[in-house]
Amino acid sequence: MTTLLLSLADWDPRRWLENLKAALPEDEVVATTPEGGFAGDPATLERVEYLLTWKPRPELFDSLPNLKAILSVGAGVDHLVDLPNLPDVPIARIVDPDLTTRMTEYVVWQVLHHVRLGPDYAALQKEKRWRPLAQPPAGKVTVGIMGLGVLGTASAKMLMQLGFRVVGWSRRPKIVAGVTAFAGEGERDAFLAETDILVCLLPDTPQTRGIIDGGLISRLRKDGPLGGPVLINAGRGQSQNEADILSALRDGTLRGASLDVFRTEPLPADSPMWNAPNLVVTPHMASISDPHGLSPLIARQVRRGKAGKPLQYVVDRDAGY
Ligand code: NDP
Ligand code: OXD
Repeated sequence: MTTLLLSLADWDPRRWLENLKAALPEDEVVATTPEGGFAGDPATLERVEYLLTWKPRPELFDSLPNLKAILSVGAGVDHLVDLPNLPDVPIARIVDPDLTTRMTEYVVWQVLHHVRLGPDYAALQKEKRWRPLAQPPAGKVTVGIMGLGVLGTASAKMLMQLGFRVVGWSRRPKIVAGVTAFAGEGERDAFLAETDILVCLLPDTPQTRGIIDGGLISRLRKDGPLGGPVLINAGRGQSQNEADILSALRDGTLRGASLDVFRTEPLPADSPMWNAPNLVVTPHMASISDPHGLSPLIARQVRRGKAGKPLQYVVDRDAGY
């Protein structure tokens, strides 16, 4: 038997507890309160070998002397890697078809929203005007995916099935069938120059912080079939300069945008982003980690650990993702 502790800031742990107890009937599964405290017997914490977490309180680690691995409840690990007194144990992230499918749906939804002129039809409907508009065929539109990792690659494949041309950009060179791939700082401008719709699926690292700024936006293709470039960010809000995005939307440098992530979440009520022209705001829901969908993966990880096997999807702490 082993003990798995859940510490999920901002989330109600009940569905996770229910699903994980069912997936790991032979093990002990306990949870902190949403505030990060532990209401049970403190001796239980000494038995904890696996921690499934989102934004844990750093002090929590001091009470877990037997911790063997940390499992991020999300695909991102930026909520973990910079924490003080992070124990020297493997950190694994979520890589799972359930999460990948949800993200792919979000990317396709937002790309189609802009290509099928969703904002224009919403405006026409408000004015009760019946007016079909000309739209470009998918094959004339190039979607540029920044972050050609697990989620970026799956999104690229789905977009290509719909007929879009896809280019991608990553840190190291990649081969993805059908995708024109660029890599590294040296090839970034060439990637942007081909991009009509920029989809950002980058992790938050020191290198990606603030990367989507006015300079980057000005390098996107201007004479494309949509009449101006579009930005979709479902990676991390830390990658974006929101003042620059706002002014690009206001002056028309960007034709539209969809942002699922923000520098401050929840997005403050007085943020001008709520009312920016042609901006779709979604509340960090592009791919919510689902307890039912992901508990089998967590159970597999715990069983691997118990069997002495290395965990899957362990992150490179130096790279930060
Ligand atoms: P991966 O680690 O599989 O992919 C990350 C990609 O980003 C890789 O292609 C990587 O390059 C690239 N990258 C990292 N740093 C740089 C850089 N400095 N320059 C260029 N490319 C870089 O992650 P996932 O695809 O699984 O997830 C991506 C992110 O999506 C997560 O980190 C998380 O922040 C976000 N996310 C958001 C969700 C939401 O609901 N909004 C849900 C889930 C995830 P390389 O391939 O060379 O390593
Ligand atoms: C994740 C997220 O990283 O939900 O999985 O943001």
